[in-house]
Amino acid sequence: MAFTTRAAKRLRLSSLPTSSCPRCTSPVQSRSISTTLSLRSPSEPPKTTHFGYETIDAALKQSRVGAVFSSVASSYDTMNDLMSLGIHRLWKDSFVRGLNPGSPPPHDNWAILDIAGGTGDIALRMLDHATTVNSDRSSHVTVSDINPQMLAEGRKRLAQTPYHAAGRLSFLEANAEDLHTVPSESIDLYTVAFGIRNFTDKPKALREAFRVLKPGGVFACLEFSKVNNSLFDAVYKRWSFGAIPLIGQVVAGDRDSYQYLVESIDRFPSQREWRGMISDAGFEIPGWKKEDGSGAEGGWEDLTGGIAAIHKGVKPVR
Ligand SMILES: C[S@@+](CC[C@H](N)C(=O)[O-])C[C@H]1O[C@@H](n2cnc3c(N)ncnc32)[C@H](O)[C@@H]1O
Repeated sequence: MAFTTRAAKRLRLSSLPTSSCPRCTSPVQSRSISTTLSLRSPSEPPKTTHFGYETIDAALKQSRVGAVFSSVASSYDTMNDLMSLGIHRLWKDSFVRGLNPGSPPPHDNWAILDIAGGTGDIALRMLDHATTVNSDRSSHVTVSDINPQMLAEGRKRLAQTPYHAAGRLSFLEANAEDLHTVPSESIDLYTVAFGIRNFTDKPKALREAFRVLKPGGVFACLEFSKVNNSLFDAVYKRWSFGAIPLIGQVVAGDRDSYQYLVESIDRFPSQREWRGMISDAGFEIPGWKKEDGSGAEGGWEDLTGGIAAIHKGVKPVR
């Protein structure tokens, strides 16, 4: 499709802001990252994994994560606002604006797959942006999630929008690590927001993303990341570990799920390591100039000092 090539070109040309992450640039850390990555072949599934700070049998993670999201589903949107003081809305707006779905008008018709789409926050923004900014009325978003309760919340919410009646939204219950019902090379834009840290086998999910995307298609991830200022990090950790489980307990009656959420955020790879994993899956990383010799920085965009980060990858055009 013509626009996928244009989308890829646009991402390649507009390099992402260079980010700094002092924590992850030390030679010691980069050695330890590459050692960790080389211990296991990329296609070999992990035997153990993390569930927050616990190390558990990898086979158990899906059900443990499932229990968390089943428990938080009905309070998820309210809790997001409380926990982030509403800032998640700004991050999501920025994420969607940067992807500019539905452009360039009038040749729209993007096939967008929003993985771990939950209650539909990203899907809704995608369609709003495509419609209002690009006058695109034909792009389609599939909201996919492993958890039926989260999807049920999304269905309730999105069914009230004009997009559902117009056939521009659909839902898919699926594990991001096995998207066998999604044909290869059928998707223009794959998005995942605050979901991928919960996956058991992230390299497998990245390979699936690569498979379903058309050549020139874009992988885009918005996820919590590593704060790049130690003072700010100390304040942020105090807030997240002190307040979030407490808010979870008071508002949602569920401290443990929110304790897991903050621990899983802390466990997620650094910006630099995550960029390497996306590259290992075969994606070209806009803004990462490996050829300049350093290979250290670039290729992601930090939000609010690195509390969250946006990573993008383009499936190469053959
Ligand atoms: C924190 S919510 C994010 C929801 C939404 N993307 C947002 O930004 O508001 C994480 C979602 O990831 C989903 N999830 C966890 N593991 C998954 C997997 N293996 N495959 C697909 N979705 C998964 C959960 O069910 C949950 O809905």
